[in-house]
Amino acid sequence: MTDRESDIDDGGLDEQTNALLAHVRALALQSDSDSDNDSDADLGGMGEFTAALGSLVREGHVPRSTEVTILSDFSTHTIERIPDHDPSSPDRPRLSFENILENLKNGKYKNIMLCVGAGISTAAGIPDFRTPGTGLYDNLSKYNLSQAEDVFCIDYFSTNPAPFYNLARELRPGKFKPTMTHHLFALLAEKGILLRCYTQNIDGLERQAGVESKYLVEAHGTFSTASCPFCATSVDIDTMNKALEDEIPLKCSKQMSDDSVCNRFVKPDIVFFGEGLPKRFLNSKIVDVEKADLCITMGTSLSVPPFCFLPEEVNAGCDNLLVNRDRVGPWGESRPDFNAFYQGSSDHAAVKIAEAIGLGDELKRRHQTD
Ligand code: OAD
Repeated sequence: MTDRESDIDDGGLDEQTNALLAHVRALALQSDSDSDNDSDADLGGMGEFTAALGSLVREGHVPRSTEVTILSDFSTHTIERIPDHDPSSPDRPRLSFENILENLKNGKYKNIMLCVGAGISTAAGIPDFRTPGTGLYDNLSKYNLSQAEDVFCIDYFSTNPAPFYNLARELRPGKFKPTMTHHLFALLAEKGILLRCYTQNIDGLERQAGVESKYLVEAHGTFSTASCPFCATSVDIDTMNKALEDEIPLKCSKQMSDDSVCNRFVKPDIVFFGEGLPKRFLNSKIVDVEKADLCITMGTSLSVPPFCFLPEEVNAGCDNLLVNRDRVGPWGESRPDFNAFYQGSSDHAAVKIAEAIGLGDELKRRHQTD
């Protein structure tokens, strides 16, 4: 096991995770009894628990400080924008993008943490989610959803999987090529200065560009494995892919202890609203936020918890750069403490970063020959 693998060993955090879940569960029960006096037993298992938790997070009942790893969506709320001036704090003096480039050139950063979203893949031809007009959520009218995010909502999927199966056919990895930004990540890893790449994307382009698994945290899951979201039984990936290709929703064939068959719809292991994030997300971030000396957040609207809180969790001495078309910040009472901002395309920033570490030509070569 390498250092990077061993320091995020998946074991050892169960107690903490359980304590956190117990806390949130208590909140769920409290909220439930406030409304209709339902009992603990009436929550009826993990599915309803996660759904209850999802609503609690959405409605803002779960305190910001609670470590919630259930995916939630704040996108229906107004997302606060960072004010139109460069932020600064006593711990993190304001820096320009050029200052960060200079530091990179001087070898100041040895542990770069990346927090990325759909914006890094738009140059590959994959739409992001929330850009008005071109974003995926503005282009789902054919599914007649009450809200666009339902296509990735576990409750909706359990009764109507067809929209997701249709969309997944278009979004599945394989048709797209990595961008300059994805190639930069592989170069940072090869140079030995990449601590970890946290991605919300399910397009697999980081991997395709050559970023090894040990550097990757696919926070919103992956198309490369599949399972039943209700009983967790694994599904053969070729069978899953065939079902997606044919757009025929597949049901779980697991024999239950009472001899019934699970019979719920299965899906690739991408994380839906109302589901938990992979254990690796929580386990690795606890270590990485302490170790990172530069955090680069790229191409994300920072609207989906718990991922959106990552940039503000890094230690005070870590420089915190935002690379995005817009100034963004999470919904909630606090904002990420970015101390540098590059407004523009992630690929433009990637070229400048590669040049700063002496790999500008190599980046262009890889992108051209890909
Ligand atoms: P969004 O669509 O919410 O945000 C993309 C951000 O990238 C926006 O702020 C854009 O302005 C910016 N952007 C677009 N193209 C860019 C470019 N070439 N260079 C720089 N910035 C660019 O996407 P995410 O934040 O990734 O979850 O969305 C987070 C999650 O919401 C997704 O993982 C998905 C979605 O619901 C699930 O499906 C589970």
